[in-house]
Amino acid sequence: MKVLVTGGAGYIGSHTCVALLEAGYDVCVIDNLDNSSYEAVKRVEELTGKKITFYEKDILDKPAMEEIFAAEKPDAVIHFAALKAVGESVAKPLEYYHCNVFGTIALLETMKKFGVKKLVYSSSATVYSSVKEMPVNEQSFAYVTTNPYGWTKIMCEQIIRDTCHADPELAVALLRYFNPVGAHPSGRIGEDPAGIPNNLMPFVAQVASGKRERLSVFGNDYPTRDGTGVRDYIHVCDLADGHVLALGKITDGNGVYTYNLGSGQGTSVLEMVKAFEEASGREIPYVISPRRPGDIAEVYADASLAEKELGFKTKRDVYDMCKDLWNWQAQNPNGYQK
Ligand code: NAD
Ligand code: UFG
Repeated sequence: MKVLVTGGAGYIGSHTCVALLEAGYDVCVIDNLDNSSYEAVKRVEELTGKKITFYEKDILDKPAMEEIFAAEKPDAVIHFAALKAVGESVAKPLEYYHCNVFGTIALLETMKKFGVKKLVYSSSATVYSSVKEMPVNEQSFAYVTTNPYGWTKIMCEQIIRDTCHADPELAVALLRYFNPVGAHPSGRIGEDPAGIPNNLMPFVAQVASGKRERLSVFGNDYPTRDGTGVRDYIHVCDLADGHVLALGKITDGNGVYTYNLGSGQGTSVLEMVKAFEEASGREIPYVISPRRPGDIAEVYADASLAEKELGFKTKRDVYDMCKDLWNWQAQNPNGYQK
């Protein structure tokens, strides 16, 4: 079975390509390398000993997409390609709506034209930003978010649900990821943020390597056990395995399946810093700074539906995430740049 992966050179995409190739799928990737490097694809091939057909193309380029679908005849698509920085989306909303929403529409139209009926879509826990009751289950979805990036995820989910409603042969898994962290245990592939990392753990890893002086902890006055923000961190390899399980589910079914992919555990910023210090043996200097605008106190998953219907259960804990993140950072201090 052949899977076309959009955004397959990126952080979650590259780890998912490893999981797919190891599970016996054939894989082709479309990525414009806007936020990634071809080196990641080469390393996936090296890790698995298998080939990936790679197209450096934009998903908004319809003629190119049609050529690729005609040549590859994929059985299913996993759609990662998107812009994903929350803060940047506030400054550049039109770029985000253009890439994420038009890109998803262009993909759905191409799938329709070529009769491809299976899709796994990268959604996000950002769709739960307004929810107060924890843990959040798939029904907690409230059609409200705090930023343009979040809106693109809500809109794309709705566009996909409507498209499925109109074509009962379509089978789609909407996967709502919580906070992916870590890297492949080999240290060959991992997250390679451009510039100053927006997210907690890539920043922590750069403090450990000496690239940044200290971490700013954004707020210690939240109503949480130590006052710092609580999130549901999930090892990127567990997340990748979740895609293989979701693909199996839609291969046999049709309609829309929505799943939280998280660990079900909330961990605070200071607990993550401590876990990283233990896993790396490095001290992480930090200062307490004001809250980051738009942040919420806590969000963690009710992950029971994915467990019940997909047999999905995380195998790696926060210590494993930190150990593998540090292994990647230490081996690749400049990411994929040599
Ligand atoms: P990433 O930036 O590492 O990967 C996205 C990839 O898509 C990159 O390789 C980029 O070059 C490519 N891309 C972007 N626009 C494209 C376009 N128009 N045409 C072709 N390729 C394009 O990000 P990631 O962390 O791997 O995220 C993957 C998906 O998961 C995204 O849809 C993101 O919104 C979603 N997600 C990520 C997180 C997270 O914390 N990392 C959380 C929830 C959801
Ligand atoms: N934090 C710091 N200092 C930093 C960075 C983050 O204290 O330098 C704190 C935040 O305030 C928050 C926690 O660490 O309490 C996690 O922050 P991240 O930026 O790592 O993650 P978020 O939960 O804010 O957002 C991420 C992605 C979103 C996605 C969301 C849910 O960036 O795109 O997870 O999946 F929507």
